[in-house]
Amino acid sequence: LDNGLARTPPMGWLSWQRFRCNIDCKNDPKNCISERLYMDMADRMAADGYKEAGYEYVNIDDCWALKERDPKTLQLVPDPVRFPSGMKKLADYVHSKGLKLGTYGDMGIYTCGGYPGSKFTMETDARTFSEWGIDSFKMDGCYSTTADFPTAYPIMEFYLNKTGRPILFSCSWPAYMQTKDINYPLIAEKCNIWRNYDDIADSWDSVKTIIKFYGDNKGNFSAVAGPGNFNDPDMIIVGNRGLSYSEEQAQMALWAMMAAPLFISSDLRSISNESRDLLLHKGVIAINQDKLGIMGQRVFAVSNIQVWTRPVLPAGSYALAILNENDGGSGTTVKFYLSNLAISSKSSFKLTEIFQGKDMGVFNSTTEFAIDVDVSSVFFGKLTPVS
Ligand code: GLA
Repeated sequence: LDNGLARTPPMGWLSWQRFRCNIDCKNDPKNCISERLYMDMADRMAADGYKEAGYEYVNIDDCWALKERDPKTLQLVPDPVRFPSGMKKLADYVHSKGLKLGTYGDMGIYTCGGYPGSKFTMETDARTFSEWGIDSFKMDGCYSTTADFPTAYPIMEFYLNKTGRPILFSCSWPAYMQTKDINYPLIAEKCNIWRNYDDIADSWDSVKTIIKFYGDNKGNFSAVAGPGNFNDPDMIIVGNRGLSYSEEQAQMALWAMMAAPLFISSDLRSISNESRDLLLHKGVIAINQDKLGIMGQRVFAVSNIQVWTRPVLPAGSYALAILNENDGGSGTTVKFYLSNLAISSKSSFKLTEIFQGKDMGVFNSTTEFAIDVDVSSVFFGKLTPVS
């Protein structure tokens, strides 16, 4: 979507995976969906290095509204017990930290959690969000029919655009149509980012399933990724309970290869230093945020080893990820030549490992790579041409 936003994959925080639809502020005031939660996360993002690293959006997900719209104005109403200051004040607070506020809704009658959807109120909702100072809108696709998507999503895009306020538009359009013919060029024209696939869960299995879906690239959605429009494999779960450290590295590396939005969904108030440092890793973020915005692709997969490449700047360079999905043994030495990477270049390349910044040597078309990758781990590197 050519609205000036998401020229590189958007970065921020999103409440769903870690906090879901916890509305019990009486018994769990710290973790319930409330203005306090989003203010806490904005505080941490501004104070703990996330903002400097590029994380910008503080995103509300489902379960923030009352179940009924305002009967007179038909506007959505934030739950007054959990959002006593109102959305405008919350947006002001987030903006005062130099950050942006996103919210969530649905193109159908209800959101996935049963809160009011936007089906008959798109213009009102777009105007309301803009009046509140909302900077991003994730529009889900529950309680609707997929046949309506190609008209309903563009209508919402029209009304968001009409407000004159830059509002990043996150669509769930293809996620509900996985087996159908999907018009990706139209989606890329109408949405800044879009979920293609199922919800992430806090587990390595879930991360692997998502990586497989994006590696398969059915319908060639990688082709429409670029500045302004990105495929969204769902939230970053680094800092939660489901991944080992090497699996957290693998998620970060693969999301960087995919030019994926980086929306962290863990508790930034209690995250370990190790996970935080990984989220803030400059080399990983540099690949994710590469200005070309090209989505990487899986170039081969054998015996639970898969290799991805992604063209990045400076011109002629590539990011390289080798993922070992074996669940036993003591690791694999992965051997291959440049030609196996579908890189048609006569150059020699310098290979630098990204997490440690380690120099791995120079490779030309006749040198064999031999890279050790432990189980449930990734090798993540950058190939830069040398003259
Ligand atoms: C769907 C979406 C999730 C989340 C929930 C909220 O499942 O895919 O990301 O927004 O709805 O109910």
